[in-house]
Formats: sequence, structure tokens, C-alpha cells
Amino acid sequence: MAKDKIIIFGGDGYLGWTLGLAFANRTNYDIVLADNMIKRQWEKEVGAKSLVPFQTPLKRIKEYGRIFGKNNLSFEKIDLLDYELVVKIIRKHNPAIIINAAQQPSAPFSMMNAQNAVATFSNNIAGHINVAWAIAETNKNIKYIKLGSAGCYSGIDTDYIPLGKVNFNFSSKGRARKIKKSWLPMYATDFYHQSKISDFLINELISDAWKLRVVTTQQSTIFGATIDENFAEDRRILSARFNYDAVFGTVINRFVCQINMGWPLTIYGDGSQKTGIISLSDTVDNFINIAEKNLVPGIHEVVHNFTLRPSINEIANMIVAKEGTISISHIENPRKEMKGSLKREVEVHKAIKGSHKNKDKKIKSELFKLGEFVGRYKNNIDAAVIMPKILWEKNQDLIKEKSLKEKYSLIMQQSAQ
Ligand SMILES: NC(=O)c1ccc[n+]([C@@H]2O[C@H](COP(=O)([O-])OP(=O)(O)OC[C@H]3O[C@@H](n4cnc5c(N)ncnc54)[C@H](O)[C@@H]3O)[C@@H](O)[C@H]2O)c1
Repeated sequence: MAKDKIIIFGGDGYLGWTLGLAFANRTNYDIVLADNMIKRQWEKEVGAKSLVPFQTPLKRIKEYGRIFGKNNLSFEKIDLLDYELVVKIIRKHNPAIIINAAQQPSAPFSMMNAQNAVATFSNNIAGHINVAWAIAETNKNIKYIKLGSAGCYSGIDTDYIPLGKVNFNFSSKGRARKIKKSWLPMYATDFYHQSKISDFLINELISDAWKLRVVTTQQSTIFGATIDENFAEDRRILSARFNYDAVFGTVINRFVCQINMGWPLTIYGDGSQKTGIISLSDTVDNFINIAEKNLVPGIHEVVHNFTLRPSINEIANMIVAKEGTISISHIENPRKEMKGSLKREVEVHKAIKGSHKNKDKKIKSELFKLGEFVGRYKNNIDAAVIMPKILWEKNQDLIKEKSLKEKYSLIMQQSAQ
């Protein structure tokens, strides 16, 4: 009997490939990875490189077959902006589940220039609409798991992020007012997160209007390079891309590269801004649980995929505690981020509860593995790509006055010496 299939859009990506590897090895599904390889082009445009040489999907799939003796992983080149092709691939494979991790994932990239802001919006939103529309036209039973971003809440000073809609009571002009059953407002200071907010609302629309089975995974910042399947050094061909530059690298991955270079950790601003974090390993474990969840047609489910929500200072201290004599350098924040906010409780979905057990111990062990992984490839680190050069501020007079670009390049030169 043919096995159920999962299509993972974004299957050449950091997360998409890692999910594919984990699902293929640990479950009975046939996994179809699909990607248009555009990230490789964006990386060239901004001078970003993967720390570990990043193989083609076909090479990685062949190596997976050799190591695990399974042939349930395949690849198709496809652009989500081509609706006919999206329909074709869904008809061909008739998947039980679609995971959409195929987006432009960087806030700085989206704030680089008008072209990148537009590219981020048109790619992320049009791609998502095409997948949703194709599901509605082919098979509404498909479970659609869409990658969102926890960063959509970072501009909201609230002490609680619920999983569902809630009632709001507030007062205005001396009168008590209500908003009934509404999602928490979201707020972005960059075009990437703005595209994620739109995606979230599109999910609301398609589950309501078409009764699709949709879950938005409000994904926190991921750290780590490997999972059990590809940690061993002789499995390097199975490595996912690992971005550590200021455009595509996430904060902990960048910090660990700085440590390996013997550099200070550079914190943007005063470091009081908070971010959700989760290891790559917990991220994939949680996705496997989410995929098994029964989704009700017409109910848009939300999962906050996170483990901790520390400030950037706390993250740096966690790494310093592990590594010892590391210095920390605060640099002017190129972004617009909310400083030290309310202590916040984030509601934990049943599907990810398991990953919250022994979390401090697990985070330490994942940081340790990341340090070891980066250490293996530290000669590949390109010093020139770590310091930020893209500013949120577009007022040329202010930029000149602060001369941020010069300051950053100075720190970069000093660090490189
Ligand atoms: N990595 C994180 O920390 C993090 C945090 C929050 C949310 N996310 C979300 O997770 C998802 C995956 O992120 P990632 O870090 O793996 O990024 P990534 O850039 O490594 O992977 C994205 C992949 O999607 C592909 N892609 C983009 N547009 C496409 C299109 N139109 N058609 C086909 N393929 C396309 C790219 O080529 C790339 O391989 C994104 O939606 C991102 O917003 C990631």
C-alpha cells in the first residue's frame, strides 16, 4: 500500500531540509522536498555563506539513503509563485500534510532597499496564497502547516500571548469598551514580519472561508545546526545550510561563531529586548507532534513554537557562562526594537509540552553541540559578514549624524585584527 506523503515547501532550507530528514527517518511518511533554490541566489546577493559547505538536495538525499537504508525522501524543483506548478505537484503526490517553510526569512534583507521589501512581500504572501488556493481546489482534507514568526508579537507590550482568540475590555472617552473574540494585535517594524502578520490573517481567512485545516506555527528564533540524524562529523553531507551573517544568521548562531573567532559578542542596543528561542532539535520534535494533531476544518490553530523567552543580555550571559572569558560589546541597534518589556507568559500548546520538560538542561546540551559543530568549521567563518550594515532608519540626515555604518565597520576592523 502506498504510504502517506508530506510535501515540505522550502525543502532546501535550514528548517525545511532538517524537517525532511527527521520526518523521513523517524516516521512512515514519504517526504517530498520542494524548493526553487532562490535562497542560494539571495545569499550571493548579500555575500552570505553557509558555514558548512552546503550540498545539493540530490546529494543529501543520496547520502540519506546510504546511511539510513531508506528511499522515502525525494526532491522537486518548484517555485511557489507558479500556481499551475503548485497545483500539479499537489495533484501528483496527493499529500496528507503540507508544511510551508518556503519564504524569504530575514528582517534585515527586507529592510535593505525597496526592491527587497517588495520581493519579500510578493514572494512570501503570493507563495502562501498559491498553496492555500491549490489546497482548496484539490483536496481540503490536507493538513496545512504554515511557518509563522513569534516576532509578530515583539512590538506588543503585553504580559500574555494566548493560543486562541480572546475578549478585550478597555476604556475610551470615559466609557468601557469591548472587542469580542479577537486575535491579539500584532505589530511589525520590518517588512519581513509584516509579511508574516499578513500570512497569519490569510490563514484565518482560508480556514474560515474554505474550511481548510490550517495551523500557524508562530516560530521563535531557532538556534543550532544539527539534529541526531546529522550531528556526527562523518555525516556532514547531511548538514543543513548554516547562516551566521548579519542578514540571514539568527542571534545565537551568530554569537557562537563570534566566540569561535575569539571576538566579543556584539549585542544590538542595550540588550534588554526579548526574543523567543528554541533549538533546531526541539523545533523538529515539535513539528512531528504538530503533524500528528487532528486539525478541525474551519478552525485556525496556533502553536507558539518556543522554549524560553530571554532578553538578548540573558542569551549572551548564558553563552558566556558556558564559555568563560568572553567579553560583550554593546553596539548601536540597527533595528527598531522594543526595549525591556513586560514579563510575558506565552501559552504552551499541548503538542509542544514535551519539549518544555528539562528545558534548561536541554538548551545547555544543544548549545554545547552547536559550539562543537561551529568549532569544526571555524576556519570557514568570514569575518566581514557578521557585523550589521542594514539600518532600519531611512532618514539620511540621521544616519549621517549617527554615522552608524562607520562605527560598525570600525568595530568589525578592530575585531578582525
Ligand atoms: N530560522 C529561524 O530562526 C526562523 C524563525 C522564525 C520563523 N522562521 C520561518 O521558517 C521558515 C523557514 O526558514 P529558514 O530559516 O529555514 O529559511 P531558509 O532561507 O533557510 O529556507 C527557506 C527556503 O525556502 C525557499 N523558498 C523561498 N521562496 C520560495 C518560493 N517562492 N518557492 C519555492 N521555494 C522558496 C528558499 O530557496 C529556501 O531554501 C520561513 O518561513 C521563516 O520565516 C524561521
